[in-house]
Amino acid sequence: TEGGSDAAKRRAGESAADLVVDGDVVGLGTGSTAAHAIRALGREVDAGLDVHGVPTSFDARRLAREAGVPLLALDEAMDAGGIDLAIDGADQVADGDLVKGGGAAHAREKVVDAAAARFVVVADPSKEADALSHPVPVELLPDALPTVEAALRAAGGEPALRTAERKDGPVVTDNGNLVVDCDFGRIDSPEALARTLSATPGVVEHGLFVALADEVHVGTADGVRVREL
Ligand code: A5P
Repeated sequence: TEGGSDAAKRRAGESAADLVVDGDVVGLGTGSTAAHAIRALGREVDAGLDVHGVPTSFDARRLAREAGVPLLALDEAMDAGGIDLAIDGADQVADGDLVKGGGAAHAREKVVDAAAARFVVVADPSKEADALSHPVPVELLPDALPTVEAALRAAGGEPALRTAERKDGPVVTDNGNLVVDCDFGRIDSPEALARTLSATPGVVEHGLFVALADEVHVGTADGVRVREL
């Protein structure tokens, strides 16, 4: 995703990975910042840490396997006592609320992040804002594109079907669905908008994460700022 230095993202990711203790089950987020946490966990596993990861996407799963982090499926993790900690990135953070889904992984991210006893957001300063205004990724059933687009316009948004540079046609998510990025301008009530989006038939999940995060680790030019949410 755009913005933010890789060093700042790395500091944030490593700072969150430092929270993990022996025996933890950790939700593994998606994106370039969470990737640093996954790599750091891999190094800690090499050094003897006993940890299991629950990936939030195809990409997080692949990266964790490369890094040597043992994995559990979500059902196995829940049977084993649940997820202790989830570490995940964000496209924008304001007032404890997030926009996620820049990598189209927000549906599974929300399931895993919400299930975790503690959800730690990792970000760089380019993600911080006074109010959310980032276009909201909305994953939807392919057949429902016209009705969902109409509902999003009726809710005051401007939807744009997500496409990828090296793909003809739309982006297809890990779940086989489409994504529209919906610009609502400044979002004054994330909670109300989240309710509207969730109530729209055909919407699988949207990228507004309202009051789900417990803390945010922001990597800066020379350190990490930790904020309780
Ligand atoms: C994935 O769909 C997103 O929710 C990511 O967590 C988010 O886009 C942050 O990604 P970066 O850390 O790469 O900015």
